[in-house]
Amino acid sequence: MTVIPDTHLGEIHVEDGVIVRIDPDKRGDLIALPGLVDLHTHLREPGREDAETVRSGSRAAALGGYTAVCAMANTSPVADTAGVVEQVWRLGREAGLVDVQPIGAVTVGLAGEQLAELGAMADSAARVRVFSDDGHCVSDPRLMRRALEYVKAFDGVIAQHAEEPRLTTGAQMNEGDVAARLGLVGWPAVAEEAIIARDALMAGHVGARLHICHVSTAGSVELIRWAKSKGWRVTAEVTPHHLLLTEERATGYDPVFKVNPPLRTRTDVEALRAGLLDGTIDCVATDHAPHSVEDKECEWAYARPGMLGLETALAIVAQTMGPRWDRIAEWMSAAPARIAGLAGHGNPVEVGQPANIALLDPGVTWTVDPTALASRSRNTPYAGMELRGRIVATYLRGEPTVLNGKATR
Ligand code: DOR
Ligand code: ZN
Repeated sequence: MTVIPDTHLGEIHVEDGVIVRIDPDKRGDLIALPGLVDLHTHLREPGREDAETVRSGSRAAALGGYTAVCAMANTSPVADTAGVVEQVWRLGREAGLVDVQPIGAVTVGLAGEQLAELGAMADSAARVRVFSDDGHCVSDPRLMRRALEYVKAFDGVIAQHAEEPRLTTGAQMNEGDVAARLGLVGWPAVAEEAIIARDALMAGHVGARLHICHVSTAGSVELIRWAKSKGWRVTAEVTPHHLLLTEERATGYDPVFKVNPPLRTRTDVEALRAGLLDGTIDCVATDHAPHSVEDKECEWAYARPGMLGLETALAIVAQTMGPRWDRIAEWMSAAPARIAGLAGHGNPVEVGQPANIALLDPGVTWTVDPTALASRSRNTPYAGMELRGRIVATYLRGEPTVLNGKATR
């Protein structure tokens, strides 16, 4: 029996991992949110344990209020077999801080040439339902079509990193005036939008589920709105950094702001926020992408793209979208749990539901210190920034994974 005091809903009583009573006479100041769910986390294990492990990433997730994360497949070896997805799944269970749900690769080795064993990964102990070559686009339309057809049979979903590779060769940042001024090769919006248009048409044709990763342009929002108006099964995510930061950040050539897709313009940021508000974009996903100092703190052109996200996501979303806790619960818990098919996550904080809960102190302010993060990497774009709202506790099926702002294991 666990008692969670001081929440805005009242005192929450948990037995056997389930909420059994909420006493509304004992209300407090902490916001009780359903445990957050991240559809897009890079954990780097196996292969780059120097940048992140399943355990360190799980700790970062729990500290950010997450109770489940979907682990991207671009590890080394790639998560393209039942063996690798089961390994990641098992490591997640051993860490015991969040439910780690592996995502399987769409193509063997992310090479875009041959479909991976999607069925074997779906049937494995990891029960994979989301498949993605993230980091790479499944650019061959024939392969994409076959992947959509394949996963339709078990209601799986293909999560596409929308980037027409022939339009982004050598790209370093958003294509436009700023790139021209800095002398960096541009990554045009149309490279994302062309793939989204193509794949939305194909998802409609096949009748299968398509999810668009890290939507970054105003045109993409329009295309997804159009696809949804057709009744096609298309969902989309936006990252906290694309909701807040713009391409201007590249001006100092600090590679911490290098990310794929790149930071875009003010117009894009505003369209992404509007798309999230009107439901065109379903959810917020971090694209937490840890990189070692050697891979990140070098010349812009050589730095890997990606930024940390798990420990700052909730505060950044509350800052950019306002403290709309019901909407935030939908964007950061209910919707991603639905898209990933994670039963037991994303449920409202109500009697009878699993006690996956994030407790936020909405009043406290804190300064982001890269060296104080639980992640093994330091590549946060928010270093030195003052954020408002911090997770004080997280519960996974009633067990505290974070207490007093500290991970319990
Ligand atoms: O910025 C990114 N980093 N975008 C991706 O698609 C991949 C990711 C990574 O794995 O570092
Ligand atoms: Zn990606």
